[in-house]
Amino acid sequence: MSKEEKITIPDILKKKKRKERIVMLTAYDYPLARILDEVGVDIILVGDSLGMVVLGYEDTLRVTLDDMVRHTAAVSRGAKRPLIVADMPYLSFHITEEETIRNAGRLIVEGGAEAVKIEGGRKRLPMIRRLIDAEIPVMGHLGLTPQSVNVFGGYRVQGKELSRAEELISDAEALQEAGVFSIVLEGVPVEIAEIISERLTIPTIGIGAGAGCDGQVLVSYDLLGFYQDIVPKFVRRYADIYSVVREALSRFASDVREGSFPDDSESYHLPEKVKERLRERFGVKR
Ligand code: KIV
Repeated sequence: MSKEEKITIPDILKKKKRKERIVMLTAYDYPLARILDEVGVDIILVGDSLGMVVLGYEDTLRVTLDDMVRHTAAVSRGAKRPLIVADMPYLSFHITEEETIRNAGRLIVEGGAEAVKIEGGRKRLPMIRRLIDAEIPVMGHLGLTPQSVNVFGGYRVQGKELSRAEELISDAEALQEAGVFSIVLEGVPVEIAEIISERLTIPTIGIGAGAGCDGQVLVSYDLLGFYQDIVPKFVRRYADIYSVVREALSRFASDVREGSFPDDSESYHLPEKVKERLRERFGVKR
């Protein structure tokens, strides 16, 4: 596929058949979305990790639908080729089916997303089915689902015990049966991710789930080293943007304080004639 062609859900499904690994990354704003498009990622996830890495909350539970719509719209203005998936935030898909469709619809219509992601297994099937009926493609999300942090009692790897492992495998099969086009597997042992990935015909996208998934996703600000409050074991650091930004901003502060910013080349000047007249009348110094 040429770089200019839009990636669609059928393209993502084909990648699994062809055993081509899927690359997904998060973005929350226009400039990062542009870079991800240039780099050629397959899917951009506007994750509700926004709440932690951009808005500074301790968890993702306080992210609102309005937050997600605004940031999804910024991302879809910046990225044209990748498939854009927006997270449905906590409580936006738990109350009624009508509300769920209306909320997901805002992410599609106002945000410009092409699909939504929903955390949770079989409990969420009625909502997932209604969304798919309303022509809204759904990506599932199983394992260490961050919106369940209070139920799990922290960010703990899921599926280490036999009963929970079996539950995750059945959840994955039920989500596929309901029609989701792919499933994020987060914070699960590699063996569970491999079993699920082999059993499903739709792609799995792993985060902290080992190399056996059909694709991988990370929170971009984690791999860039911009968000440093929590650094999970599964993050590989590709840059230390925090230090780069810190250094640049402190150089700016010193330049201002010592008077070396701005210099002449960074300033506007009057045309000679106007300057002359002003000099006569007001005594312009230069
Ligand atoms: O919110 C998010 O960024 C996510 C990824 C971690 C998969 O759900």
